[in-house]
Amino acid sequence: MKNKTPPTLRERVMREEDFIVSKTDPRGIITYGNQTFIEFSGYSEQELLGQQHNIIRHPDMPRGVFKLLWDTIVTGQEVFAYVKNLSKDGGFYWVFANVTPDYDEHGRIVGYYSVRRCPRRPAVDICAGLYAQMLAEEQRAGPRDACAASMALLQSLLDQKGVSYEQLVLSL
Ligand SMILES: Cc1cc2nc3c(=O)[nH]c(=O)nc-3n(C[C@H](O)[C@H](O)[C@H](O)COP(=O)(O)O)c2cc1C
Repeated sequence: MKNKTPPTLRERVMREEDFIVSKTDPRGIITYGNQTFIEFSGYSEQELLGQQHNIIRHPDMPRGVFKLLWDTIVTGQEVFAYVKNLSKDGGFYWVFANVTPDYDEHGRIVGYYSVRRCPRRPAVDICAGLYAQMLAEEQRAGPRDACAASMALLQSLLDQKGVSYEQLVLSL
């Protein structure tokens, strides 16, 4: 179920002490959300549980960022990312997310956790600009080549700076 409500300019700003936590199964279906997740997303717990995590996907987010996220976590590694999310009422909120795999006693991935903190404002401004460029590149390339095109853009930026994706994100 994707949110069809038109996005608005209403921003919800995370407080310093907030943690937005959710848990998914291996396919990204929400199995847990804390009270702060419920508050910021604008959905009730019943509306969130059992839904794909893209229920809060904001159209300003480039697809390449989620490809990077999934490509990283399926290999068992954690990933950090700045994400703009869509609330039920069309408003938005920025988060600094750390997504980690959840293992069973045999070492198999049984799901994922995301813990999000209040992002620093300069980091949000930098990411908003970067994501707008990546999105424009995706729209230019068309759906089939979208991710490859925006990731190439991101990679050229990283090469210019001589840093990895994680180094860049953690330095903001
Ligand atoms: C633990 C976990 C947390 C996630 N959190 C978010 C999130 O906060 N916002 C979001 O848009 N996607 C999140 N995703 C990624 C979504 O599963 C999905 O890839 C993304 O929304 C893009 O959806 P789409 O490919 O259907 O456009 C999360 C995935 C996992 C595994």
